[in-house]
Amino acid sequence: MDYAKNRVGNVAIIFLLFAGVFYFFIWTPAISQPFFSFQKNQCPSSNKSAIGNPRDELETALERASMANKTLIIAMVNKAYVEGEKAMLDLFLDSFWLGEDTRSLVNHLLLVTVDHIAFDRCNFLRLHCYRLVTDGVDFGGEKLYMSDEFIKMMWRRTLFLSDVLKRGYSFIFTDTDVMWLRNPFARLSQNESEDLQISTDIFNGDPWSEANLINTGFYMVRSNNKTIALFDTWYSMKDNSTGMKEQDVLINMKSNGVFKQLGLRVRFLDTLYFSGFCQDSRNFTAVTTVHANCCRSISAKVADLGAVLCDWKRFKGSTINGTSTIGWSRHMACAHSWIVVNGSSAR
Ligand SMILES: *[C@@H]1O[C@H](CO)[C@@H](O)[C@H](O)[C@H]1NC(C)=O
Ligand SMILES: *[C@@H]1O[C@H](CO)[C@@H](O)[C@H](O)[C@H]1NC(C)=O
Ligand SMILES: *[C@@H]1O[C@H](CO)[C@@H](O)[C@H](O)[C@H]1NC(C)=O
Ligand SMILES: *[C@@H]1O[C@H](CO)[C@@H](O)[C@H](O)[C@H]1NC(C)=O
Ligand SMILES: *[C@@H]1O[C@H](CO)[C@@H](O)[C@H](O)[C@H]1NC(C)=O
Ligand SMILES: *[C@@H]1O[C@H](CO)[C@@H](O)[C@H](O)[C@H]1NC(C)=O
Ligand SMILES: *[C@@H]1O[C@H](CO)[C@@H](O)[C@H](O)[C@H]1NC(C)=O
Ligand SMILES: *[C@@H]1O[C@H](CO)[C@@H](O)[C@H](O)[C@H]1NC(C)=O
Repeated sequence: MDYAKNRVGNVAIIFLLFAGVFYFFIWTPAISQPFFSFQKNQCPSSNKSAIGNPRDELETALERASMANKTLIIAMVNKAYVEGEKAMLDLFLDSFWLGEDTRSLVNHLLLVTVDHIAFDRCNFLRLHCYRLVTDGVDFGGEKLYMSDEFIKMMWRRTLFLSDVLKRGYSFIFTDTDVMWLRNPFARLSQNESEDLQISTDIFNGDPWSEANLINTGFYMVRSNNKTIALFDTWYSMKDNSTGMKEQDVLINMKSNGVFKQLGLRVRFLDTLYFSGFCQDSRNFTAVTTVHANCCRSISAKVADLGAVLCDWKRFKGSTINGTSTIGWSRHMACAHSWIVVNGSSAR
């Protein structure tokens, strides 16, 4: 009896395994969660989805990565961020592992890849991956801050993100040189009237002050008409802003009162929680993210972010009895990254 039951169970499991594997091979760039997808695709498509937008790759990727309320985390990587002994992407993922209440957030991370090496690496890591098509432009190598290719890549990203908003998805955008040490959703405002919450290089003490120096390396944006209009306006400046990167264009828009014109409510995030190398968080118990801003090259960022993770581990190990006297290591590699060929400093 038991034996027979087991046999039936085994046959069923083997069948499911086989079906899952079979499905996986047929649908290979559709990557992760083959079982789940297999089951979903057995269902006849409802009228709603048949009438609505045709299901495309991006829609599928967004649906898989997002939380129930159509919110997800988006990061963009190219070859330069996935290669090397310690790649930026590895550090980024390490931070989710070492952070507090951050491990499960990887399930809601969509990695947008701009070349096939980044895409292959992403799939190998069994993450949610999306391959962004980039009009034959090679976005693969390291883009030095403010090079033409760097700027092109930033604009492509703005266009992509506006597409995501138009599909009704809200998201946290994060650069991969941001370490996630605590769950940012717990620190971001849940108030739906706040359209955009954006990190700052230097926080001036007032979350509503447009005088804050914004940084587009980390922000949360809710999908609505106002934010869609913001991204459309932002992208429309592309050809009018030669030599400027998209962050500077957004700063100009802010100065020209575009946020107010669009009726956007924008919160500027305190570096106490959403910190960076421009301004360290002064409190290890509060720090949520650490961004390698005020830094020029990937190798310098990797070196100094490695030190951040070591500081974090020391902090975690030192607080057993409640007190901690840990401080951040100095960001030496980044400080040096600004020094140009013959010794004149860029910043
Ligand atoms: C689906 O749509 C078709 C045509 O648009 C309609 O005839 C049919 O009744 C719909 N089915 C359901 C279950 O709504
Ligand atoms: C979706 O849910 C998460 C987790 O509860 C929450 O932090 C986030 O703010 C929600 N997103 C939106 C757009 O309300
Ligand atoms: C959200 O913020 C608005 C504006 O400050 C305020 O009027 C409203 O009460 C807030 N809503 C919640 C749920 O806190
Ligand atoms: C957003 O725009 C759409 C299309 O123009 C419009 O139908 C809708 O009412 C708008 N929603 C809000 C909240 O303004
Ligand atoms: C483009 O730049 C010109 C000159 O700076 C300015 O007059 C024009 O308004 C700009 N266009 C947009 C769409 O901002
Ligand atoms: C550090 O942040 C924690 C959590 O927000 C807070 O409880 C604590 O009082 C802060 N410590 C200092 C010295 O500001
Ligand atoms: C906490 O740790 C410090 C430094 O290790 C030590 O001096 C202190 O006695 C400890 N306090 C308690 C209550 O164990
Ligand atoms: C340093 O660079 C400047 C401008 O790039 C150049 O004019 C100058 O000759 C250089 N000095 C040395 C010692 O190479």
